[in-house]
Amino acid sequence: MNSQNNYPAQITTIERHILDEQRHHPEATGVLTQLLYDIALAGKVIASKTTRAGLAEILGRTDEINIQGEEVQKLDHLADLTIYRLNDHTGRLAALASEEHEGILAIPEQYPTGKYVMLYDPLDGSANIDYNIPVGTIFSIFHRITESGPGTMEDMLQPGRNLVASGYISYGSSTMLVYTTGEGVHGFTLDPTVGEFLLSHPHIKIPDNPRYFSANTGYVTYWSEGVRRYTDYVQGVDGSIMGLSLRYVGSLVADFHRNLLSGGVFYYAVDSRDSNKDSGKLRLLYEAAPLAFIAEQAGGYASDGTQSIMDIIPVSLHQRTPLFIGNRPLVEKAEELISKFG
Ligand code: AHG
Repeated sequence: MNSQNNYPAQITTIERHILDEQRHHPEATGVLTQLLYDIALAGKVIASKTTRAGLAEILGRTDEINIQGEEVQKLDHLADLTIYRLNDHTGRLAALASEEHEGILAIPEQYPTGKYVMLYDPLDGSANIDYNIPVGTIFSIFHRITESGPGTMEDMLQPGRNLVASGYISYGSSTMLVYTTGEGVHGFTLDPTVGEFLLSHPHIKIPDNPRYFSANTGYVTYWSEGVRRYTDYVQGVDGSIMGLSLRYVGSLVADFHRNLLSGGVFYYAVDSRDSNKDSGKLRLLYEAAPLAFIAEQAGGYASDGTQSIMDIIPVSLHQRTPLFIGNRPLVEKAEELISKFG
């Protein structure tokens, strides 16, 4: 077939792409392929709800409070349950962990356990749901460390360097799934007419010339001197670079995705008012690290202001970290100014 027949030269579904990727790994058993496909299916189910959030009865809040002390949006709850239920019986995972739950989510004993563990934020940015602002699912996949049986905290608390795969699903003007298995970053757009994620952004690389910086500058008073100087730098105040435009949605997946495609830097620094003074708001294992893997695979970099996010050894499931992520020179500049000025 050719494009003259109004047929695309090649339709690449996420399954075909993952299978093609898998051919680079003869030792691959196909389990990871199926796991990524399960995630894509969860994304379709969640997308079918987020696109109707304003209409369906699920708009708005439950009366529940999650582990983060945040009021759980009904869509959060639905997304969390959807991901768990599509993965709890497949025999591909030894355990899961979710932003919405304090401890490990075990595989029900009637089902087999597998060789991977998955950690996920089911619906990041959910505070924006009622305002029709894009939200997203973020996931990390590791090989289990323990030999067999139910997954343990040891299997979960791994540095980003150990990631086998990571990615996100952005529920925005279109639904996109972006993932990496260490062979580059690839983006798929959901075609709702056929219900398939189709390859739309192969081999994503962060453009060398950045356009945006993304930070909640309303907090500038509460940032360290180094971060305040960095905020001047990215705006070109010292004249050393062309100022970047500010774009900040307040939804990590939306802000990260835009900067991945346009070039730029996102940062969420420590806020002196925080009780967790040394770590900021964002979570390491299912927000910062999976996006750091994507950023590095796309030619960028992610830091906590002093070291690569990928090198941080987690000590708890929901531990937080400051995050500077995007074009490598921009992130390294943040590290330089924080090193000099704190
Ligand atoms: P939540 O999931 O509670 O809505 O938090 C979203 C996160 C992240 O997506 C976003 O970058 C950040 O919180 C925005 O925080 P601020 O509103 O403090 O800027």
